[in-house]
Amino acid sequence: MSTSQPGDILCFFINGKKVTEQHADPETMLLSFLREKMRLTGTKSGCGGGGCGACTVMVSRYQPATKTIIHFSANACLLPICQLHGAAVTTVEGIGSTKTRIHPVQERIAKAHGSQCGFCTPGMVMAMYTLLRNKPQPNMEDIQEALAGNLCRCTGYRPIVDGCRTFCEETNCCKANGSGNGCLNGGSHTDEPERLFDKDEFVQLDPTQELIFPPELLLMAERETPQTLSFHGERMSWISPVSLQELVQLKTRNPKAPLVMGNTNIGPDIKFKGVLHPLIISPFRVKELFGVTHTPKGVWVGAGCSLAEVRSLMEKLAAQFPQEKTELFRALIQQLGNLGSVQIRNVASLGGQIISAYPNSDLNPVLAAGKCKVSVISEGGRREVPLDQDFFVGFCKTVLKPEEIIVSVFIPFTRKGELVRVFRQAPRKETSFATVTSGMRVFFCEGSRVVQDVSVYYGGMGATTVSAAKTCAAIVSRPWDDETLSRAYDVLLDELVLPPSAPGGKVEFRRSLTLSFLFKFNLEVLQKLRETKVITDEPPARMKIQPLPREIQPGLQEFQHVSSDQSEQDPVGRPIMHRSALSQATGEAVYCDDMPPIDGELFLSLVTSARAHAKITGIDASEALKLPGVVDVITAKDIPGKKVRASFGYDEDVLAQSEVSCVGQMVCAVVADTREHAKRGAYAVKISYEDLPDPIFTIEEAVEKASYFEPRRKIWRGDVTEAFKTVDHVHEGRIKLGGQEHFYMETQSMLAIPVGEETEFNLYVSTQWPTLTQDAVAETLGIPANRVTCHVKRMGGAFGGKVTKTSILASITAVAAWKTNRAVRCVLERGDDMLITGARHPVQATYKVGFMNDGRILAADFEYFTNAGNTIDESVLVAEKILLHLDNAYDIPNLRGRSAACRTHLPSNTAFRGFGVPQSLLVVENMVNDVAMKLGRPAHQIREINMYRGPSVTHYNFAFSAENLLRCWDECKAKAEFDARRRAADHFNQQNRWRKRGMSIIPIKYGIAFAESFLNQAAALVHIYKDGSVLVTHGGTEMGQGIHTKMQQVASRELNIPPSKIYISETSTNTVPNTCPSAASFGTDANGMAVQNACQILHQRLKPIREKNPKGPWEKWINDAFFEKISLSATGFYRGHDLYMDWEKMEGQPYAYYTFGACCSEVELDCLSGDYRTLRTDLVVDIGRSVNPSVDIGQIEGAFIQGLGLYTMEELKFSPSGLLYTRGPSQYKIPAVCDVPLHFNIYLLPDSHNPHAIYSSKGIGEPTLFLGSSVFFAIKDAVAAARSESGLVGPFTLNSPATPEKACLACALPLTQKVPVSKPGSFKPWALDI
Ligand SMILES: Cc1cc2nc3c(=O)[nH]c(=O)nc-3n(C[C@H](O)[C@H](O)[C@H](O)COP(=O)(O)OP(=O)(O)OC[C@H]3O[C@@H](n4cnc5c(N)ncnc54)[C@H](O)[C@@H]3O)c2cc1C
Ligand code: FES
Ligand code: FES
Repeated sequence: MSTSQPGDILCFFINGKKVTEQHADPETMLLSFLREKMRLTGTKSGCGGGGCGACTVMVSRYQPATKTIIHFSANACLLPICQLHGAAVTTVEGIGSTKTRIHPVQERIAKAHGSQCGFCTPGMVMAMYTLLRNKPQPNMEDIQEALAGNLCRCTGYRPIVDGCRTFCEETNCCKANGSGNGCLNGGSHTDEPERLFDKDEFVQLDPTQELIFPPELLLMAERETPQTLSFHGERMSWISPVSLQELVQLKTRNPKAPLVMGNTNIGPDIKFKGVLHPLIISPFRVKELFGVTHTPKGVWVGAGCSLAEVRSLMEKLAAQFPQEKTELFRALIQQLGNLGSVQIRNVASLGGQIISAYPNSDLNPVLAAGKCKVSVISEGGRREVPLDQDFFVGFCKTVLKPEEIIVSVFIPFTRKGELVRVFRQAPRKETSFATVTSGMRVFFCEGSRVVQDVSVYYGGMGATTVSAAKTCAAIVSRPWDDETLSRAYDVLLDELVLPPSAPGGKVEFRRSLTLSFLFKFNLEVLQKLRETKVITDEPPARMKIQPLPREIQPGLQEFQHVSSDQSEQDPVGRPIMHRSALSQATGEAVYCDDMPPIDGELFLSLVTSARAHAKITGIDASEALKLPGVVDVITAKDIPGKKVRASFGYDEDVLAQSEVSCVGQMVCAVVADTREHAKRGAYAVKISYEDLPDPIFTIEEAVEKASYFEPRRKIWRGDVTEAFKTVDHVHEGRIKLGGQEHFYMETQSMLAIPVGEETEFNLYVSTQWPTLTQDAVAETLGIPANRVTCHVKRMGGAFGGKVTKTSILASITAVAAWKTNRAVRCVLERGDDMLITGARHPVQATYKVGFMNDGRILAADFEYFTNAGNTIDESVLVAEKILLHLDNAYDIPNLRGRSAACRTHLPSNTAFRGFGVPQSLLVVENMVNDVAMKLGRPAHQIREINMYRGPSVTHYNFAFSAENLLRCWDECKAKAEFDARRRAADHFNQQNRWRKRGMSIIPIKYGIAFAESFLNQAAALVHIYKDGSVLVTHGGTEMGQGIHTKMQQVASRELNIPPSKIYISETSTNTVPNTCPSAASFGTDANGMAVQNACQILHQRLKPIREKNPKGPWEKWINDAFFEKISLSATGFYRGHDLYMDWEKMEGQPYAYYTFGACCSEVELDCLSGDYRTLRTDLVVDIGRSVNPSVDIGQIEGAFIQGLGLYTMEELKFSPSGLLYTRGPSQYKIPAVCDVPLHFNIYLLPDSHNPHAIYSSKGIGEPTLFLGSSVFFAIKDAVAAARSESGLVGPFTLNSPATPEKACLACALPLTQKVPVSKPGSFKPWALDI
């Protein structure tokens, strides 16, 4: 860190060790300090903006005033080190290690199988650890809250929650043998199923073993008189005064300098918007900002108090005073519980929240409605300013002057007859900025229903927090009754108008939410008036509104025991923990960016196109090259070998040469000595463009202009046209599915190291396909592949997104390493990763279906279009896979499908778990649903009627047995108690007008392996060392799916030695060459056979030695073998199935076999807001005989939750000029803990065998993703129930994802129907409908 002027010495502790920093740079966040300076790489970076929790650490501070130590979790990515003076930081490395003692939290999350790729695990561990430091015996609510801000893309959260649940007092009951019956309420377990983990073996939590707060810091806080501190960095200075007077002076002299408290607003602005603040003032040590003063009318709360502190204070006061006085406090408690994550609330300050004046701030509407005020100070003196409609004057602007400081906030007691409520709706139930949020207050004349005063404020309805003043005027002085309220709705509708192209979109939904919230307020007020006997009518039971349930119950995981005669040592078929789980939980596991820097290493930052379709007229790097640390700028001209990658006859530029075809296309790259310098350099490169006409963004535009990647595909069987003439009914429908961002927690990462002689390169890459990266790099550098070695230790998730895109990124990084002759690291920031690397293909489909009165479907005709983006990538293969799955589980005699990959000017889309199947099947199942609705019959009956039965043949003429498909279906219906619960849901719907329950049961038949035969081969290399230890290498890559664990199991069985003797270090192209991608759910099948082959060869070679000395032991055999000159190294090979698909003949054998499954989900939907909960999911899967049930159940649950995200919440939004808006977890919501079904039960189908794969197992990585659609169809079912109350029956369109917006609007409630809909085409929408 360089400095321009001397500063103070920063002093804090990390994991019990003192850190003194002479030149603390205010721009340095704790995360980079830990990772880069301290080499504590356990704390991970997933987003850099407080939205993923991967960087969670615990911060402890001593408070001299109360003589207490407080511990809180925080996001290290937003924590400036300068804010940490006097604090103690604990990271995942500080609580336990495999070398010494692992902490119970680390142990339990790992052993409960809560760590797959492990990238989220340290963050999860620290979130839970901090909770336990504050509350050693938490309840489930505490746990769910503590984990709410931590994202995991692999596990589906259930195992993490179950691991953490073991710390609760009351955790022994499974509560899950069907209807929630269990040990707690009398259910019995005579035949206990085998568990995935044994909690009796867990080490007990012993709080006395925890790191203590450093006594030195305690003394420092007690003894030293605080002094003003200042720190100076390369571009920024930081001043931390200790008195209010000094603070005021500083702010007067530097009115533009922000006061940084939690840094949750300023931090993201600096990081993501490139804002530069030469001076930062930190009022963190000014005591006056933290005081709490009680008055008879309310309480003054220091503006510096964190939101978590405000919440605890409100809770304390709510318990202390009568309810009528604490209405506002209670409303604040509720709202604070929903705002951000625990980590954010622990640091974000009350003053910061108010003055940030976000349009969708959660607190400001309720503070304003509650008549709060702020006390501000400046050199001119103190003044009180009410927080009313005049306070918020513009986007992120308030009426306060730049030099004014909020000292405290007055929160008044409520009066008798006063009621305060808050309502909010967000894209995700928790840890998500609200779409619309509100605070409402009404005050009645004593004993009357006449309104004396009312205030209603909304967030999310414009540039500021807005007051519905006219609506309030229509209510005040009138009786609270139907007449007043119905007028109020009309006034509100006119008052809060949003233009159709309003930023943020969702205009119709946002307007309807304003009405819904007022309506909900009305119901609550009426209830209150009844309670206080002001009105005496009985509320209609159907009109009641209760909060949706939220506590996650323990689920069931049923799998087959291994047979009793299997040796104890043989691990195959047993629920073995992921072999790296403990290293992942302790932060010791090494990911690509955790590798220590190489001497002279540079960092690479990409410069991407800002235009969707344009000629590049110039690249001006002169300013960038002048910046400190910038070493070089790499353009296409620097590429010594091939400048393009070719596939299917289309060329893709590695770096754009003369033209760009999407926003986000890589144009050049800046290499510099640090990440920050490279990033600043990239900002400084100027590219000039000449726009080219008519960019194409949407599928509609592409179809209109016939913009496709060829070949387009078609397939049919029977005679569809003729069949349509003979059926009783013909129905046509359409559905759209949005794309899906991979959101692997570890972004694309690589390190290219020139070896220094003969143009040899070592690449450490997070890729699913090392060989492709090796080939691409060799081709780009113009060198033979034997000079490039690609190493993959592990990936922090991949999901199909680390195949083709990684190879291009690695090629660019290698060019930079070649040109500079230095090691070059490239780790994409989350926003760049989302912008550049593409996603799952969005799909638009139409279908026509012919069916009989009895429900038989005789003909179906589908047409699919995918939005492929600007390059072909794997889009044609995806289009093919879509057609191969047209039948899903149904025997439709006349079936036709066409599919085309549309070429557009959006970033190129790529493989994503399921590879087109999740898109294909949603359309098929939607069609079946339509048939059911047309006939007025339950959808599951239509599914049953049309399902394959017995020996069957698909539309591509592939014979298979459907027996296990039907077994899964029947078992799922039975386990889910489908019929009884269906009746119960119908009954619930009759009893409730605003809440509806929906159910669905969905089957799947999923083809395993690659239709491209050559991709099914695999190889392995097994070495036995003289000490008997075994090193296995194979072609599969570890991305969390547990392939190394399974390979260890295979080797253990085949060599007949315990797994502990077997090690798998990495996947590398110099040990196993010419590998195939770890994809298509085929990794274990292929590599397992190769490892088996190698081990069997070795076992055979050892036979004479064993026969000579049958008792062994193993080590002796190996030693003897060495001296007898027997080779202890063997290569294994698996040729794979000879699969093919002939698209001319439209037939083939593209799969080795099918994995079958069925899933039943039930949801409860709040029709007024579109919010929903998945109450229960039961999932039955046929995966043959599982090699490792815990790993397989992990894949099943993780894929299901990813599917739930795809079909119900994840939305990619593009601007009208083709720029991706959703470039981080704040804008793009993947499922979080709150989205886990409250009862989530998994059953592996017993007695299933598969002759086509290792040990009779089946591939499972991808299939169950589609079963997340059971939640989509359950929502659709609930919506249908709501629509029927408005007289709307029959098929209706609900596009995917079924977000709260879509679900709420589809319910077509009379109230929300009041909102006028702008005519499409009459305005430019904020976001494209791609
Ligand atoms: C991941 C994430 C999720 C979030 N989710 C939500 C959400 O769901 N709902 C919601 O409402 N908000 C949410 N927020 C916003 C968050 O609540 C605010 O950013 C936060 O309250 C700001 O407080 P701070 O202390 O961090 O402000 P800082 O970033 O430290 O400062 C912000 C601004 O406030 C000014 N300031 C601070 N204190 C004072 C003072 N005493 N007097 C005068 N000026 C002052 C500073 O000058 C600066 O301009 C989220 C933020 C993040 C990062
Ligand atoms: S990296 Fe800090 S919250 Fe995502
Ligand atoms: S295990 Fe959680 S992100 Fe991979």
